[in-house]
Amino acid sequence: MSYTRDEVDFLRAHDTEITEATVDLQLTRKSLISDTQMLRRRFGEHARAVTELATARRTAVGKLPSNWLVCHDSAQQATAPQVAAVRSKRLAERLGQGARIHDVTCSIGTELPALTAAGLAATGSDIDPVRVRMAAVNTASAVAVADALAPPLRSGGVDAIIADPARRAGGRRITNPRQLLPPLPNLLDACAGIPVAVKCAPGLDFSDWNGLVSLVSVDGGVKEACLYSPSLGNGEMREAVVLSTSDAGDTVVDRITDLYPDGGDASIAGPPGQYIIDPDGAIVRAGLVRHYAVRENLWMLDDRIAHLTGDRVPVGKTGFPFIEQVPLKRLRTALRNHGGGTLEILVRGVDIDPDKLRRSLKLTGDRPMTVVITRIGSSGVALVCGQRTTGIDRN
Ligand SMILES: C[S@@+](CC[C@H](N)C(=O)[O-])C[C@H]1O[C@@H](n2cnc3c(N)ncnc32)[C@H](O)[C@@H]1O
Repeated sequence: MSYTRDEVDFLRAHDTEITEATVDLQLTRKSLISDTQMLRRRFGEHARAVTELATARRTAVGKLPSNWLVCHDSAQQATAPQVAAVRSKRLAERLGQGARIHDVTCSIGTELPALTAAGLAATGSDIDPVRVRMAAVNTASAVAVADALAPPLRSGGVDAIIADPARRAGGRRITNPRQLLPPLPNLLDACAGIPVAVKCAPGLDFSDWNGLVSLVSVDGGVKEACLYSPSLGNGEMREAVVLSTSDAGDTVVDRITDLYPDGGDASIAGPPGQYIIDPDGAIVRAGLVRHYAVRENLWMLDDRIAHLTGDRVPVGKTGFPFIEQVPLKRLRTALRNHGGGTLEILVRGVDIDPDKLRRSLKLTGDRPMTVVITRIGSSGVALVCGQRTTGIDRN
Protein backbone atom coordinates (compact mmCIF):
# COMPACT_ATOMS: atom_id res chain seq x y z
CA MET A 1 0.00 0.00 0.00
CA SER A 2 1.34 3.42 -0.86
CA TYR A 3 1.17 6.66 1.12
CA THR A 4 -0.70 9.93 0.99
CA ARG A 5 1.32 13.09 0.38
CA ASP A 6 0.93 13.99 4.06
CA GLU A 7 2.29 10.62 5.08
CA VAL A 8 5.32 11.06 2.82
CA ASP A 9 6.00 14.42 4.43
CA PHE A 10 5.57 12.91 7.91
CA LEU A 11 7.91 10.00 7.14
CA ARG A 12 10.49 12.37 5.76
CA ALA A 13 10.33 14.71 8.76
CA HIS A 14 10.53 11.88 11.33
CA ASP A 15 13.00 9.53 9.66
CA THR A 16 15.50 9.32 12.54
CA GLU A 17 12.77 8.82 15.10
CA ILE A 18 11.14 6.10 12.97
CA THR A 19 14.43 4.28 12.51
CA GLU A 20 15.09 4.34 16.27
CA ALA A 21 11.56 3.18 17.09
CA THR A 22 11.51 0.28 14.61
CA VAL A 23 15.10 -0.98 14.57
CA ASP A 24 14.50 -3.55 17.34
CA LEU A 25 11.00 -4.56 16.28
CA GLN A 26 10.61 -7.99 14.71
CA LEU A 27 7.81 -6.86 12.40
CA THR A 28 6.98 -10.47 11.58
CA ARG A 29 3.48 -11.76 10.98
CA LYS A 30 3.46 -13.06 14.56
CA SER A 31 4.65 -9.82 16.16
CA LEU A 32 2.81 -7.40 13.89
CA ILE A 33 -0.21 -6.81 16.16
CA SER A 34 1.89 -5.90 19.21
CA ASP A 35 4.39 -3.96 17.05
CA THR A 36 1.57 -1.96 15.47
CA GLN A 37 0.03 -1.21 18.88
CA MET A 38 3.36 0.16 20.06
CA LEU A 39 3.78 2.23 16.88
CA ARG A 40 0.21 3.53 17.22
CA ARG A 41 0.95 4.79 20.73
CA ARG A 42 4.05 6.54 19.44
CA PHE A 43 3.02 7.77 15.97
CA GLY A 44 -0.80 7.95 16.27
CA GLU A 45 -2.55 8.22 12.90
CA HIS A 46 0.78 7.77 11.08
CA ALA A 47 1.39 4.28 12.53
CA ARG A 48 0.19 2.55 9.34
CA ALA A 49 2.63 4.49 7.19
CA VAL A 50 5.47 3.92 9.67
CA THR A 51 4.78 0.18 9.67
CA GLU A 52 4.66 0.12 5.86
CA LEU A 53 7.96 1.99 5.64
CA ALA A 54 9.75 -0.18 8.20
CA THR A 55 8.58 -3.47 6.69
CA ALA A 56 9.14 -2.35 3.07
CA ARG A 57 12.69 -1.24 3.92
CA ARG A 58 13.40 -4.72 5.24
CA THR A 59 12.21 -6.35 2.02
CA ALA A 60 14.39 -3.94 0.02
CA VAL A 61 17.68 -4.67 1.82
CA GLY A 62 20.41 -5.00 -0.82
CA LYS A 63 18.15 -3.50 -3.50
CA LEU A 64 17.61 0.04 -2.26
CA PRO A 65 19.55 2.27 0.16
CA SER A 66 18.37 1.68 3.74
CA ASN A 67 17.35 5.31 4.27
CA TRP A 68 15.08 5.59 1.19
CA LEU A 69 11.37 6.27 1.33
CA VAL A 70 9.80 3.15 -0.10
CA CYS A 71 6.54 1.19 0.09
CA HIS A 72 6.03 -2.50 -0.66
CA ASP A 73 4.82 -1.97 -4.24
CA SER A 74 7.63 0.38 -5.22
CA ALA A 75 10.23 -1.92 -3.59
CA GLN A 76 8.87 -4.88 -5.51
CA GLN A 77 8.97 -2.92 -8.81
CA ALA A 78 12.43 -1.44 -8.21
CA THR A 79 15.18 -2.41 -10.63
CA ALA A 80 18.07 -4.25 -8.96
CA PRO A 81 21.08 -1.90 -8.64
CA GLN A 82 23.37 -4.20 -10.67
CA VAL A 83 20.86 -4.20 -13.53
CA ALA A 84 20.43 -0.42 -13.44
CA ALA A 85 24.24 -0.13 -13.54
CA VAL A 86 24.43 -2.27 -16.71
CA ARG A 87 21.84 -0.09 -18.47
CA SER A 88 23.54 3.14 -17.36
CA LYS A 89 26.95 1.91 -18.50
CA ARG A 90 25.61 1.08 -21.96
CA LEU A 91 23.98 4.52 -22.27
CA ALA A 92 27.19 6.25 -21.15
CA GLU A 93 29.27 4.21 -23.64
CA ARG A 94 26.95 4.91 -26.54
CA LEU A 95 26.04 8.53 -25.80
CA GLY A 96 29.10 9.78 -23.93
CA GLN A 97 29.61 11.28 -20.50
CA GLY A 98 27.20 14.05 -19.64
CA ALA A 99 24.48 12.77 -21.99
CA ARG A 100 20.98 13.76 -20.78
CA ILE A 101 18.80 10.79 -19.85
CA HIS A 102 15.18 11.14 -18.77
CA ASP A 103 13.44 8.31 -16.90
CA VAL A 104 9.75 8.74 -17.77
CA THR A 105 8.53 6.13 -15.23
CA CYS A 106 11.01 6.95 -12.48
CA SER A 107 8.84 5.75 -9.56
CA ILE A 108 10.75 6.45 -6.32
CA GLY A 109 13.93 7.30 -8.25
CA THR A 110 15.59 3.86 -8.26
CA GLU A 111 17.46 4.15 -11.57
CA LEU A 112 18.55 7.78 -11.25
CA PRO A 113 21.61 7.24 -8.98
CA ALA A 114 22.98 4.57 -11.36
CA LEU A 115 22.68 7.00 -14.29
CA THR A 116 24.43 9.72 -12.32
CA ALA A 117 27.16 7.32 -11.19
CA ALA A 118 27.81 6.47 -14.87
CA GLY A 119 28.45 10.14 -15.58
CA LEU A 120 25.08 10.88 -17.17
CA ALA A 121 22.80 13.83 -16.44
CA ALA A 122 19.67 12.14 -15.06
CA THR A 123 16.17 13.52 -14.65
CA GLY A 124 12.93 11.68 -13.96
CA SER A 125 9.16 11.89 -14.02
CA ASP A 126 6.25 9.67 -13.08
CA ILE A 127 2.48 9.97 -13.28
CA ASP A 128 2.12 9.21 -9.56
CA PRO A 129 2.67 12.39 -7.51
CA VAL A 130 3.36 10.45 -4.31
CA ARG A 131 6.13 8.46 -5.94
CA VAL A 132 7.60 11.63 -7.38
CA ARG A 133 7.60 13.14 -3.91
CA MET A 134 9.43 10.07 -2.63
CA ALA A 135 11.90 10.27 -5.53
CA ALA A 136 12.59 13.90 -4.67
CA VAL A 137 13.51 12.86 -1.11
CA ASN A 138 15.51 9.83 -2.24
CA THR A 139 17.66 11.29 -4.99
CA ALA A 140 19.46 14.47 -5.89
CA SER A 141 18.09 14.42 -9.46
CA ALA A 142 15.40 16.76 -10.76
CA VAL A 143 12.03 14.95 -10.83
CA ALA A 144 8.53 16.01 -11.90
CA VAL A 145 4.99 14.67 -12.15
CA ALA A 146 4.21 13.89 -15.79
CA ASP A 147 2.47 11.39 -18.05
CA ALA A 148 5.05 9.42 -20.03
CA LEU A 149 2.70 9.67 -23.01
CA ALA A 150 3.09 13.46 -22.97
CA PRO A 151 6.52 13.98 -21.43
CA PRO A 152 7.38 17.62 -20.74
CA LEU A 153 10.54 17.45 -22.84
CA ARG A 154 11.77 20.16 -25.15
CA SER A 155 12.58 18.95 -28.65
CA GLY A 156 16.27 18.00 -28.52
CA GLY A 157 16.19 18.39 -24.72
CA VAL A 158 17.26 14.84 -23.93
CA ASP A 159 19.63 12.34 -25.53
CA ALA A 160 17.70 9.21 -24.50
CA ILE A 161 14.65 8.11 -22.57
CA ILE A 162 14.44 5.15 -20.26
CA ALA A 163 11.11 3.63 -19.28
CA ASP A 164 9.84 0.75 -17.24
CA PRO A 165 6.07 0.35 -17.73
CA ALA A 166 4.25 -1.26 -14.80
CA ARG A 167 3.52 -4.95 -15.35
CA ARG A 168 0.91 -5.39 -12.65
CA ALA A 169 -2.46 -3.80 -12.06
CA GLY A 170 -4.87 -4.68 -9.26
CA GLY A 171 -2.56 -7.50 -8.19
CA ARG A 172 -2.69 -9.13 -11.64
CA ARG A 173 0.31 -9.67 -13.91
CA ILE A 174 0.01 -7.96 -17.32
CA THR A 175 1.51 -9.81 -20.28
CA ASN A 176 -0.05 -7.93 -23.18
CA PRO A 177 2.26 -4.99 -24.14
CA ARG A 178 -0.85 -2.91 -24.98
CA GLN A 179 -2.06 -3.21 -21.40
CA LEU A 180 1.17 -2.20 -19.69
CA LEU A 181 1.05 1.07 -17.77
CA PRO A 182 1.76 3.05 -19.87
CA PRO A 183 0.97 0.85 -22.92
CA LEU A 184 4.15 0.00 -24.82
CA PRO A 185 3.00 1.03 -28.36
CA ASN A 186 1.75 4.42 -27.09
CA LEU A 187 4.93 4.95 -25.13
CA LEU A 188 7.06 4.27 -28.21
CA ASP A 189 4.92 6.68 -30.25
CA ALA A 190 5.36 9.36 -27.58
CA CYS A 191 9.14 8.89 -27.67
CA ALA A 192 9.42 8.88 -31.48
CA GLY A 193 12.70 10.37 -32.65
CA ILE A 194 14.43 9.93 -29.28
CA PRO A 195 16.54 6.82 -28.53
CA VAL A 196 14.83 4.66 -25.90
CA ALA A 197 15.71 1.90 -23.49
CA VAL A 198 12.52 0.19 -22.34
CA LYS A 199 12.59 -2.36 -19.56
CA CYS A 200 10.09 -5.19 -20.15
CA ALA A 201 9.19 -8.58 -18.73
CA PRO A 202 11.60 -11.29 -19.96
CA GLY A 203 8.69 -13.34 -21.33
CA LEU A 204 7.46 -10.63 -23.69
CA ASP A 205 7.36 -11.49 -27.40
CA PHE A 206 10.03 -9.09 -28.69
CA SER A 207 10.45 -10.64 -32.16
CA ASP A 208 9.15 -7.45 -33.84
CA TRP A 209 11.64 -5.12 -32.13
CA ASN A 210 14.18 -3.83 -34.65
CA GLY A 211 16.89 -2.88 -32.17
CA LEU A 212 18.88 -4.68 -29.51
CA VAL A 213 17.03 -6.87 -27.00
CA SER A 214 19.12 -7.39 -23.89
CA LEU A 215 18.19 -10.17 -21.46
CA VAL A 216 19.63 -9.68 -18.00
CA SER A 217 19.87 -12.21 -15.18
CA VAL A 218 21.17 -11.87 -11.63
CA ASP A 219 22.45 -14.95 -9.80
CA GLY A 220 20.50 -17.30 -12.07
CA GLY A 221 17.16 -15.42 -12.12
CA VAL A 222 16.17 -13.62 -15.34
CA LYS A 223 15.19 -10.09 -14.32
CA GLU A 224 14.29 -8.24 -17.50
CA ALA A 225 14.43 -7.81 -21.24
CA CYS A 226 15.49 -4.29 -22.16
CA LEU A 227 14.58 -3.04 -25.64
CA TYR A 228 17.16 -0.55 -26.97
CA SER A 229 16.71 1.67 -30.02
CA PRO A 230 19.13 0.65 -32.80
CA SER A 231 21.35 3.68 -32.09
CA LEU A 232 21.96 2.44 -28.54
CA GLY A 233 23.39 -0.88 -29.72
CA ASN A 234 26.61 -1.82 -31.52
CA GLY A 235 24.91 -3.71 -34.34
CA GLU A 236 23.94 -6.67 -32.20
CA MET A 237 20.24 -7.68 -32.05
CA ARG A 238 20.37 -9.98 -29.03
CA GLU A 239 22.52 -10.09 -25.96
CA ALA A 240 22.52 -11.92 -22.64
CA VAL A 241 24.05 -10.19 -19.65
CA VAL A 242 24.66 -12.72 -16.92
CA LEU A 243 25.38 -11.05 -13.59
CA SER A 244 26.60 -13.07 -10.63
CA THR A 245 27.70 -12.16 -7.15
CA SER A 246 31.21 -13.34 -6.26
CA ASP A 247 32.11 -14.72 -2.82
CA ALA A 248 33.60 -11.28 -2.08
CA GLY A 249 30.25 -9.68 -2.90
CA ASP A 250 31.34 -8.11 -6.21
CA THR A 251 29.19 -8.28 -9.33
CA VAL A 252 30.74 -10.37 -12.10
CA VAL A 253 29.45 -9.49 -15.58
CA ASP A 254 29.42 -12.06 -18.39
CA ARG A 255 28.04 -10.77 -21.68
CA ILE A 256 27.42 -12.64 -24.92
CA THR A 257 25.82 -11.31 -28.09
CA ASP A 258 24.64 -12.60 -31.46
CA LEU A 259 27.76 -11.06 -33.02
CA TYR A 260 29.66 -14.04 -31.56
CA PRO A 261 29.95 -17.04 -33.98
CA ASP A 262 27.28 -19.73 -33.50
CA GLY A 263 28.77 -22.52 -35.56
CA GLY A 264 26.68 -21.78 -38.68
CA ASP A 265 24.02 -24.18 -39.92
CA ALA A 266 25.87 -27.37 -39.02
CA SER A 267 24.67 -29.50 -36.13
CA ILE A 268 26.65 -29.01 -32.93
CA ALA A 269 24.92 -31.91 -31.16
CA GLY A 270 26.77 -34.93 -29.84
CA PRO A 271 26.78 -37.52 -27.06
CA PRO A 272 27.21 -36.44 -23.43
CA GLY A 273 30.69 -35.34 -22.36
CA GLN A 274 31.96 -35.36 -18.77
CA TYR A 275 29.47 -32.70 -17.64
CA ILE A 276 25.90 -31.58 -18.42
CA ILE A 277 25.44 -27.81 -18.37
CA ASP A 278 22.15 -25.95 -18.06
CA PRO A 279 22.80 -22.52 -19.61
CA ASP A 280 21.66 -19.39 -17.76
CA GLY A 281 18.04 -18.35 -18.45
CA ALA A 282 19.17 -15.04 -19.98
CA ILE A 283 21.17 -16.96 -22.61
CA VAL A 284 18.25 -19.27 -23.32
CA ARG A 285 15.70 -16.45 -23.61
CA ALA A 286 18.04 -14.40 -25.80
CA GLY A 287 18.33 -17.39 -28.18
CA LEU A 288 22.12 -17.50 -27.72
CA VAL A 289 22.62 -21.08 -26.56
CA ARG A 290 24.62 -22.07 -29.67
CA HIS A 291 26.77 -18.92 -29.44
CA TYR A 292 27.49 -19.70 -25.79
CA ALA A 293 28.25 -23.35 -26.57
CA VAL A 294 30.76 -22.36 -29.27
CA ARG A 295 32.39 -19.77 -27.00
CA GLU A 296 32.75 -22.24 -24.13
CA ASN A 297 33.80 -25.24 -26.23
CA LEU A 298 30.63 -27.11 -25.35
CA TRP A 299 28.15 -28.90 -27.57
CA MET A 300 24.43 -29.60 -27.51
CA LEU A 301 22.72 -32.88 -26.70
CA ASP A 302 20.08 -32.04 -29.31
CA ASP A 303 20.19 -29.02 -31.62
CA ARG A 304 16.69 -27.93 -30.55
CA ILE A 305 16.95 -28.28 -26.78
CA ALA A 306 18.91 -25.87 -24.59
CA HIS A 307 20.91 -28.43 -22.63
CA LEU A 308 24.66 -28.39 -23.18
CA THR A 309 27.45 -30.80 -22.49
CA GLY A 310 31.22 -30.77 -22.50
CA ASP A 311 34.38 -31.91 -20.76
CA ARG A 312 34.60 -28.91 -18.43
CA VAL A 313 32.23 -26.59 -16.65
CA PRO A 314 32.73 -22.93 -17.67
CA VAL A 315 34.64 -21.05 -14.96
CA GLY A 316 32.32 -19.69 -12.28
CA LYS A 317 29.29 -21.50 -13.73
CA THR A 318 27.75 -24.74 -12.54
CA GLY A 319 27.26 -28.13 -14.17
CA PHE A 320 26.61 -31.76 -13.33
CA PRO A 321 29.11 -34.68 -13.62
CA PHE A 322 27.52 -37.07 -16.11
CA ILE A 323 27.17 -40.70 -14.98
CA GLU A 324 24.83 -42.46 -17.39
CA GLN A 325 21.91 -41.96 -19.77
CA VAL A 326 18.82 -44.12 -19.21
CA PRO A 327 15.33 -44.34 -20.68
CA LEU A 328 12.80 -42.59 -18.42
CA LYS A 329 11.23 -45.87 -17.35
CA ARG A 330 14.57 -47.11 -15.99
CA LEU A 331 15.32 -43.98 -13.99
CA ARG A 332 14.18 -45.24 -10.61
CA THR A 333 16.27 -48.42 -10.81
CA ALA A 334 19.32 -46.46 -12.00
CA LEU A 335 19.10 -43.94 -9.16
CA ARG A 336 18.66 -46.69 -6.57
CA ASN A 337 21.70 -48.51 -7.96
CA HIS A 338 23.72 -45.32 -7.48
CA GLY A 339 22.47 -44.82 -3.89
CA GLY A 340 20.54 -41.68 -4.89
CA GLY A 341 18.99 -39.65 -2.06
CA THR A 342 18.27 -35.93 -2.35
CA LEU A 343 17.72 -35.09 -5.98
CA GLU A 344 17.96 -31.95 -8.10
CA ILE A 345 15.75 -32.38 -11.18
CA LEU A 346 16.04 -30.31 -14.37
CA VAL A 347 13.46 -30.75 -17.12
CA ARG A 348 13.43 -29.37 -20.63
CA GLY A 349 11.57 -30.56 -23.74
CA VAL A 350 9.60 -33.24 -21.85
CA ASP A 351 6.29 -32.77 -20.05
CA ILE A 352 7.24 -33.93 -16.56
CA ASP A 353 6.53 -32.24 -13.23
CA PRO A 354 9.77 -32.41 -11.19
CA ASP A 355 7.96 -32.45 -7.82
CA LYS A 356 5.67 -35.28 -8.83
CA LEU A 357 8.64 -37.20 -10.24
CA ARG A 358 10.63 -36.74 -7.02
CA ARG A 359 7.73 -38.04 -4.95
CA SER A 360 7.17 -41.03 -7.21
CA LEU A 361 10.86 -42.07 -7.10
CA LYS A 362 10.79 -42.57 -3.29
CA LEU A 363 14.58 -42.57 -3.01
CA THR A 364 16.09 -43.76 0.26
CA GLY A 365 19.83 -43.51 -0.48
CA ASP A 366 22.20 -40.90 0.94
CA ARG A 367 23.96 -39.68 -2.21
CA PRO A 368 22.95 -36.22 -3.45
CA MET A 369 22.41 -36.52 -7.20
CA THR A 370 20.95 -34.72 -10.20
CA VAL A 371 18.68 -35.91 -12.99
CA VAL A 372 18.49 -33.96 -16.23
CA ILE A 373 15.36 -34.94 -18.13
CA THR A 374 15.69 -33.85 -21.73
CA ARG A 375 14.68 -34.72 -25.25
CA ILE A 376 17.21 -36.19 -27.67
CA GLY A 377 15.76 -36.67 -31.14
CA SER A 378 12.19 -37.82 -30.58
CA SER A 379 12.73 -39.51 -27.19
CA GLY A 380 12.66 -38.21 -23.66
CA VAL A 381 15.71 -39.46 -21.76
CA ALA A 382 17.10 -39.15 -18.26
CA LEU A 383 20.72 -38.19 -17.71
CA VAL A 384 21.81 -39.41 -14.30
CA CYS A 385 24.44 -37.05 -12.85
CA GLY A 386 26.32 -36.28 -9.68
CA GLN A 387 25.52 -33.20 -7.64
CA ARG A 388 25.94 -29.66 -8.99
CA THR A 389 29.55 -28.51 -9.15
CA THR A 390 31.20 -25.17 -9.98
CA GLY A 391 33.71 -24.77 -12.82
CA ILE A 392 37.11 -23.56 -11.64
CA ASP A 393 39.99 -21.97 -13.49
CA ARG A 394 42.52 -24.77 -13.99
CA ASN A 395 45.38 -22.49 -15.08
C1 LIG B 1 7.56 -0.66 -12.78
S1 LIG B 1 7.38 0.95 -12.12
C2 LIG B 1 8.94 1.69 -12.46
C3 LIG B 1 9.97 1.20 -11.53
C4 LIG B 1 11.28 1.93 -11.63
N1 LIG B 1 11.94 1.74 -12.91
C5 LIG B 1 12.20 1.45 -10.52
O1 LIG B 1 13.20 0.80 -10.82
O2 LIG B 1 11.88 1.71 -9.37
C6 LIG B 1 6.31 1.71 -13.23
C7 LIG B 1 6.03 3.15 -12.93
O3 LIG B 1 5.31 3.70 -14.04
C8 LIG B 1 4.45 4.68 -13.54
N2 LIG B 1 3.46 4.97 -14.57
C9 LIG B 1 2.38 4.26 -14.94
N3 LIG B 1 1.75 4.86 -15.98
C10 LIG B 1 2.46 5.97 -16.26
C11 LIG B 1 2.34 7.01 -17.22
N4 LIG B 1 1.34 7.02 -18.11
N5 LIG B 1 3.26 7.99 -17.20
C12 LIG B 1 4.28 8.00 -16.31
N6 LIG B 1 4.44 7.05 -15.38
C13 LIG B 1 3.55 6.04 -15.36
C14 LIG B 1 3.92 4.11 -12.24
O4 LIG B 1 3.43 5.13 -11.41
C15 LIG B 1 5.17 3.41 -11.70
O5 LIG B 1 5.87 4.23 -10.80
